[in-house]
Amino acid sequence: MLRAGLALAPASAMVEIVERDDGLIRAATAERYFAEPADWVPFERRALDLAAGRVLDVGCGAGRHALALQARGLPVTALDVSPGAVHVSRQRGVGNTVLGTVSDHAAAGERYDTFLLMGENLGLLESADRAPGFLAELAAMASPGARIIAHGADPHQADDPAHVRYLRRNLERGRMPGQMTIRVRHRDLASRWFEYLLCSPDELAALLTPTTWELTDVSGVDPVNYLAILTRRPGPADVTATATPGS
Ligand SMILES: C[S@@+](CC[C@H](N)C(=O)[O-])C[C@H]1O[C@@H](n2cnc3c(N)ncnc32)[C@H](O)[C@@H]1O
Repeated sequence: MLRAGLALAPASAMVEIVERDDGLIRAATAERYFAEPADWVPFERRALDLAAGRVLDVGCGAGRHALALQARGLPVTALDVSPGAVHVSRQRGVGNTVLGTVSDHAAAGERYDTFLLMGENLGLLESADRAPGFLAELAAMASPGARIIAHGADPHQADDPAHVRYLRRNLERGRMPGQMTIRVRHRDLASRWFEYLLCSPDELAALLTPTTWELTDVSGVDPVNYLAILTRRPGPADVTATATPGS
């Protein structure tokens, strides 16, 4: 979708429409996907400062974070399920791109020290049912001590009556309040419908309980948006791998 849009208009004139299954639509220009670090909100720049070692930029979009990390000399792989996003990232200079989902890439045998989920990509947890599996796939690619650095959005801070109704409807259906069923549209193009999870830091911590990740830091610039740091708990394999000989 990114590629199709770029062929038609500059990012400032390209409108991304997010449609929710209750009929609510939200439109915004695509400029933010191409913004330079100087124009990012401070917690996004902090995310870059926290990235270390081999980095997997999960859902890289137009590659703005991968480009900034590359410029700092970090080895970064930019992963996206959208062929257009991968094409645009490559055109903009991202050297190492992978087309596919986290599930696809988890089978490739690569290891990473940092997983970057920016642009609200903590939403890729999808739902309470899917989150443990998604986190296990990241754990399968994690080096000892690896971290997930993720931009989340707390749905409970919204006071828009349409959002409040949607959260209540989700609860009535046995879903987490912030589980959104959405699709992305641009002109006559539409993605498939997919699940996207907005959760509070407390809900995130609860989701992590059965996983090998723990929430070690939360910071934010406003009541809705936050930066979450998830650190991988050492498992038996890590202890074996890092043990000094004779210890
Ligand atoms: C909201 S954009 C964020 C882009 C970028 N991280 C940024 O902040 O500019 C979400 C991106 O995640 C990608 N995406 C969605 N689901 C994915 C999945 N399961 N695996 C990999 N990428 C995915 C989309 O194609 C899209 O490019």
